[in-house]
Amino acid sequence: MRDLAVPEFQDMLFHYARKMPFWQDTHRIIVAKVTDGMAAAYRTDPWGIGFRTTHFDINIGSRDSPTTCYILSLEVAEHQRRQGHGKAMVACIEDFCKDYGCDSIEVTASGDVSPKLYAATGFTRIKDGIVVFRKPITLK
Ligand SMILES: CC(C)(COP(=O)(O)OP(=O)(O)OC[C@H]1O[C@@H](n2cnc3c(N)ncnc32)[C@H](O)[C@@H]1OP(=O)(O)O)[C@@H](O)C(=O)NCCC(=O)NCCS
Repeated sequence: MRDLAVPEFQDMLFHYARKMPFWQDTHRIIVAKVTDGMAAAYRTDPWGIGFRTTHFDINIGSRDSPTTCYILSLEVAEHQRRQGHGKAMVACIEDFCKDYGCDSIEVTASGDVSPKLYAATGFTRIKDGIVVFRKPITLK
C-alpha cells in the first residue's frame, strides 16, 4: 500500500472525485492523518457539516486492518437520489482504493435502501443485523 503524505493523498482522491459526473469545482475534499491511517471527507457543500447533503467520509486503515477502507458515512441529498450519484461515489472510492493499494472496502449499512446500493455495487453481506447502543445525557 502507498504511504502518502496528506497533500498527495488529497490530490489522488481529487483525481478520482473529479471524474464523478456531478463533480463541481466548489466541492471539497478534506484529509487528515489519524492514529491508524488516513481520514478523508468529500463535501459537495463547502459550508455544510455534511449530513443531508451529498457527501462521503472514509477512513483508510484501522488497528485490525491497515489495508481496509471503511466507509463511515455516504449520503445523497434527497432531491438528487436515484440518479446514480450513490453508485458514482462508491465507484470513486473503489477506484481510489485500487490505486492506493487497499485490499477491501467495508461499510455498515442499515435501513432498506443502503444495503441495496452496496449489493448493486458488488459488496457481499458478511454480518447480519447491527446492534445500536444509545445513552441519554441528562442536562446539568
Ligand atoms: C443509499 C443512498 C446513498 C443511495 O443513493 P442514490 O444516489 O439514490 O443511489 P443510486 O441512484 O446510485 O442507486 C444505486 C442502486 O441502489 C439501489 N437503490 C437506490 N435507491 C433505491 C430505492 N429507493 N429503492 C430500491 N433500490 C434503491 C438500486 O439498486 C440502485 O441501482 P439501480 O438504479 O441500477 O436500480 C441514498 O438513498 C441515501 O443517501 N440514503 C440515506 C443515507 C444512507 O442510507 N446512506 C448509506 C449509509 S452508509
